[in-house]
Amino acid sequence: MELLTGAGLWSVAIFTVIFILLVDLMHRHQRWTSRYPPGPVPWPVLGNLLQVDLDNMPYSLYKLQNRYGDVFSLQMGWKPMVVINGLKAMKEVLLTCGEDTADRPQVPIFEYLGVKPGSQGVVLAPYGPEWREQRRFSVSTLRNFGLGKKSLEDWVTKEARHLCDAFTAQAGQPINPNTMLNNAVCNVIASLIFARRFEYEDPYLIRMQKVLEDSLTEISGLIPEGSILIPNMSSVLKDETVWEKPLRFHPEHFLDAQGHFVKPEAFMPFSAGRRSCLGEPLARMELFLFFTCLLQHFSFSVPNGQPRPRNLGVFPFPVAPYPYQLCAVMREQGH
Ligand code: HEM
Repeated sequence: MELLTGAGLWSVAIFTVIFILLVDLMHRHQRWTSRYPPGPVPWPVLGNLLQVDLDNMPYSLYKLQNRYGDVFSLQMGWKPMVVINGLKAMKEVLLTCGEDTADRPQVPIFEYLGVKPGSQGVVLAPYGPEWREQRRFSVSTLRNFGLGKKSLEDWVTKEARHLCDAFTAQAGQPINPNTMLNNAVCNVIASLIFARRFEYEDPYLIRMQKVLEDSLTEISGLIPEGSILIPNMSSVLKDETVWEKPLRFHPEHFLDAQGHFVKPEAFMPFSAGRRSCLGEPLARMELFLFFTCLLQHFSFSVPNGQPRPRNLGVFPFPVAPYPYQLCAVMREQGH
């Protein structure tokens, strides 16, 4: 077959560019007629991909929210998305219109990862009878396995002690605690499923975490089909119109004038509505038992010469804290 040269090559290139621009125009036309909320003007083909920082998505969304308001649109490639920000809009979307916003988009990579209709579990399942059945099954299984009962609390308390031992082994040195915390959380699930825990150095536990991390990285690189709704939870948890000190750990956020505990509406780390976290009671138990155990045994500080942990997390899914170092120094007994 003869290779294209000179004028032939130019004609193909010009034809390809015109074709892509026509397809782009078609997508824009769909977007104009669908009356999307305001948002940055998309570039041909790339959409708004160059106008957001994929490494720091929460901050990019924060800047766009300040410019375009609580509900704005973005176009990632040709995929239109609507981003929801702030407590008021989030409540309307997740609670008032919960029935219409509880669906999940079909993402081709999920099929590649083995997530097919009928085997989608809960998190990725479209809103329908299969999701409902799986969700009910998961909630009742968690209860049968001891959620809200003493048995699970014992597992979590035992794991908290192992976690403290792991911190003790590195006491006084600068460490990144992520892996230890992940191991502890994994072990609670392992104790529910296999009725046993794994040592933190166990190659099986390390492999499980690696598989999980890799699959999350693969998922995050993709843009699903159709118009997608992005509930920007950070914008609620740091909503400047609600919180007195949105970027600080400020215990008064959770106390009324008499010093009694209150739960502000904007505190929704487990989301809200039909697709809210079904593991919330277990997660709360872990947070309470792990952190009380750690705080009773150690004083935490930022190692010399290290920056303070950042307020913004690492995108994309799930948003994790930007890597940081801390120093755990053992408290003296009786203090
Ligand atoms: C601190 C720990 C946790 C946090 C902050 C958290 C947060 C969340 C959030 C924000 C969602 C909603 C995601 C969405 O809108 O798509 C969610 C969903 C979910 N979470 Fe959690 N979660 C935690 C721990 C857990 C644990 C320990 C489990 C399992 C026992 C769990 C199981 C689930 C499931 C199955 C869903 C999907 C629910 C559905 O789509 O119907 N989570 N979680």
